[in-house]
Amino acid sequence: MTLQELETQLSRCQSLAECDQFLQANLHQIRPLFYGLTRRELQEYRRFDYEDVFDAFASSKAGCDIRDGHIPPASVVSLLIFFLSVFERALLYRAVHAVTQLIPAGPLRQQSEALFEYKNIENSAKDYLNRFDTILTLLQQAWNHNTELGQRLSENLLQEYLLDAILEPKSAGLDIRSAITARFLDQKLQQSYPILLTPSVQKLLDAPTSQLEQARNAVRSHIMEDIHTQACLLVPDVLLMKIADEFGGETEIPEQTHNRLPDFLDDQLERMNAAYSPQYRSISRTFSDADEQKNCMYLGTYFPRTVIESWNIFTELLSIPVIQAAFRQKDIIRLLDIGSGTGGAVAGALLALNEWGQCEATVAVTALDANQIALTKHGEILDYLRDHLTFELDFQLRYNQLPSDLEGFIPAFSTFLDEEGHHYDLVTCWKSLCEFYNTGFAPAQGIIRNLLNLALPALVPNGLCVVADVTSTNNNVEHFAITLNREVNEYEAGSDAKGHTILPLCCASRTKTCDPRCYTQRLFRVGHQLASHDQTKIAYRVLTPDPFWHSITASFNNHEAYRVNAAKIHQACANGSKRTITDPTPCGYTGFFTKGE
Ligand SMILES: C[S@@+](CC[C@H](N)C(=O)[O-])C[C@H]1O[C@@H](n2cnc3c(N)ncnc32)[C@H](O)[C@@H]1O
Repeated sequence: MTLQELETQLSRCQSLAECDQFLQANLHQIRPLFYGLTRRELQEYRRFDYEDVFDAFASSKAGCDIRDGHIPPASVVSLLIFFLSVFERALLYRAVHAVTQLIPAGPLRQQSEALFEYKNIENSAKDYLNRFDTILTLLQQAWNHNTELGQRLSENLLQEYLLDAILEPKSAGLDIRSAITARFLDQKLQQSYPILLTPSVQKLLDAPTSQLEQARNAVRSHIMEDIHTQACLLVPDVLLMKIADEFGGETEIPEQTHNRLPDFLDDQLERMNAAYSPQYRSISRTFSDADEQKNCMYLGTYFPRTVIESWNIFTELLSIPVIQAAFRQKDIIRLLDIGSGTGGAVAGALLALNEWGQCEATVAVTALDANQIALTKHGEILDYLRDHLTFELDFQLRYNQLPSDLEGFIPAFSTFLDEEGHHYDLVTCWKSLCEFYNTGFAPAQGIIRNLLNLALPALVPNGLCVVADVTSTNNNVEHFAITLNREVNEYEAGSDAKGHTILPLCCASRTKTCDPRCYTQRLFRVGHQLASHDQTKIAYRVLTPDPFWHSITASFNNHEAYRVNAAKIHQACANGSKRTITDPTPCGYTGFFTKGE
């Protein structure tokens, strides 16, 4: 779905019921149109496109019906919330007002009215102070009649109001901090508006001015997430994913070369007190604050899984003659691993290069992670692995907590790449991006696309970028494999894409026709001392810069359809469409690399 298609569809809606029917079927693919762009991108390039779409809806028969007093169905309110969020980020406050008029009376409308009051400022010396009572009345009323989530949104909006009132006049050379603070501290006002006593709000009153910009970025991200959650809760069947078929039924495990950790690595894990303890969800929601014990559990459970995944995938990549020829030429192979943790993806890549036997380069690893304990273990493992490799190994461990919202992620990752100043032969990002989306689904939208935007130009011309991640629904909104597929497709569809997918085979060059709910899923067997019959599943894409992509894909066999989901054994992808299969159909991950095979 494009914005233009949405505009056409909305303008055609002859009634609210018709609109509801269209949204029930399509909101899941309309949502991404409203997220994933930074404030700057919206403000500079796209803002008016959204106004056109909204105008199409507002002037449709369905929009007229709302103005005539008909109550819009939940799906329509959900769409209005998307508009509200995008207009706020695009600084289109008149449009915020227009949307607000269509939202049914109640807490959400009051919050939206409050937002308009403190955003649509004409005189920053006076308006923030003069509108204090109006804004507080709206936020307090919305707080009084709300759920926990709704109350939190009111509190976050109040924080943003305070921060705007301090920071916006300041940028015009005015200082109203003491005047606005006095209102927030006034005991009489606190009795009238108890929301003023919210601890997170009171804490801001004492914060040094230098920290306020950062605090505002954080609160904006929370507001975006809260507003999105409100939209989801209105139509949970449409916008929140259920645990799907990934756990049920028959599954298929395609051929894999490696299914056991090498003994020497097993021995090292034992020395490091690795413990096997799969804890689906609690471990994988976010790992950046894991302590020593959790890291040991990670080492004995998830590290081996990642090693097996990465070892197999790199073995398969290194079996492609075009890639072999390129990697044989290299004197140095630089590998950047983003969200490396204890280093399973790096270890797998090193094992594959070692076994390939033709690597004469020094391998230089840069590992970035937000967990110092994991990084230290990563270093210990690499120090040990070095003795088992036929090539030289250097490594740098970089402690770095990248912001988990798009606004913060882009500058931070871009600065990281600039400061490191290298071009890489391999960039890997293994099961770490899901954690950004688990922190806040809406503000993280676009991170995968932008990571590729920055990482592909940081590759050497014959470099490879592997983005692999979980296939679960830990963020409670969407299968992460769907998010991954969608954002990689969006990246590739962009006019400034510097590279494209080579694997899975069906995702190479056919992404324009992809079903938005498609997700790929590969299952691996995993064995090691602590668990002899474990399994692991991931979704992944391997991308490479365009000229190299052409050389590689030209060497592929072309089949009509490929199997790409281990949990859907009777399904294959044919040019982006799902197809039920009865005949033997090749696996989309491996085994069909070379023409004539
Ligand atoms: C589930 S672990 C995966 C580790 C490793 N890539 C693997 O596959 O075994 C996720 C990793 O992402 C890191 N991570 C999560 N959020 C991060 C952030 N904002 N910045 C940097 N690293 C982050 C965590 O510290 C953790 O080590």
